[in-house]
Amino acid sequence: MVDKRMVVWSSLVSSRPVFAAVVATAAAVVTVALIFYKKKPKIFELVGEVSALYCYPIKSCAGITNNIAFCTKLGIRMSNAMDRHFLIIRENGDFITQRQIAKMAHVKTSIKNQELQLEAEGMPELRVPLYPELDEHEIIPCRIWKNNVKAQVCGDDAAAWLSTYLGEEGLRLVVYMPGVTARQSPTTNALSSDQVAFPDESPYHLTTEESLADLNKRIEHKSDGDITIENFRPNIVVKGTKEPWDEDTWAELKIGKDVRLRVLEPCGRCTLTTVDPDKLEKRADGEPLKTLRSFRLFPEVNATAPLFAVYAGLDKGGRIKIGDPVYAVRGDGLGVKISPGI
Ligand SMILES: *[C@@H]1O[C@H](CO)[C@@H](O)[C@H](O)[C@H]1NC(C)=O
Repeated sequence: MVDKRMVVWSSLVSSRPVFAAVVATAAAVVTVALIFYKKKPKIFELVGEVSALYCYPIKSCAGITNNIAFCTKLGIRMSNAMDRHFLIIRENGDFITQRQIAKMAHVKTSIKNQELQLEAEGMPELRVPLYPELDEHEIIPCRIWKNNVKAQVCGDDAAAWLSTYLGEEGLRLVVYMPGVTARQSPTTNALSSDQVAFPDESPYHLTTEESLADLNKRIEHKSDGDITIENFRPNIVVKGTKEPWDEDTWAELKIGKDVRLRVLEPCGRCTLTTVDPDKLEKRADGEPLKTLRSFRLFPEVNATAPLFAVYAGLDKGGRIKIGDPVYAVRGDGLGVKISPGI
């Protein structure tokens, strides 16, 4: 028996104009479908709210905190200071962090009349301009890990102050200069537009209170009290997530009304996290690294370092404040199931 539909179809196909019309219609349907598929609205899900904001004007020194901050392409700006736009270097240009000189954690920073003020015990207050004018003669090469960058020296007073307090000859403070210093974020998935001043990896670093609480719950023996958020030096802390480690699945973030961030990579943690922020010594218990290694080591993501928090780049700038809602578009995550807390 001949299928009626076949008859209709063959008669359509045998008529050239009709056939052309059918093909054109099919093409149009496919095109429209593709456009709609591409434009599929992203689903932003409420995941928590901003609970703390931090800015570290000098890399590896004490930071500042505020209820409000501005998100720029090059990181968070707070009280007019940019995150990690000052750096301390050795005579040979190598950067230093608390890994080499733990006392850096006790160099306090604050903003006074558009200047960066440094304070430390037994030292006079020192101020340097936040945004000095370009002086070609003061631009010098320096190194962050293996990255060569150029920056402007902040003067002899700052150099002497740091050398005295930190106890090493020849230290200098240098500052980011527009058009001179920035380099591309070396983080996996970074776009060429994701530039950084002096952070190791990316312009933003986010963590959640829930993950910190879960970590503290899992640490069995603590010689030096709870691990605090200061051990991790994030810019934005989120609270109220449904589960700890929710951030593993965040791909894009919307904070408050305006700000859009793109999550680049989870953050592999190093020994800097084990420096007690008050005592300035590495914790005797080796925490939080020891416990992080026991349940946050994902060799397919980072072969050597356990993961805590995420790196992000900025897609849309603006103001954020404590209490702002945080929305996320979820991605594939780490692709690893994390065992439930103890
Ligand atoms: C793993 O983490 C370490 C420590 O933060 C970092 O230096 C390294 O670049 C990370 N590796 C990858 C593949 O992301």
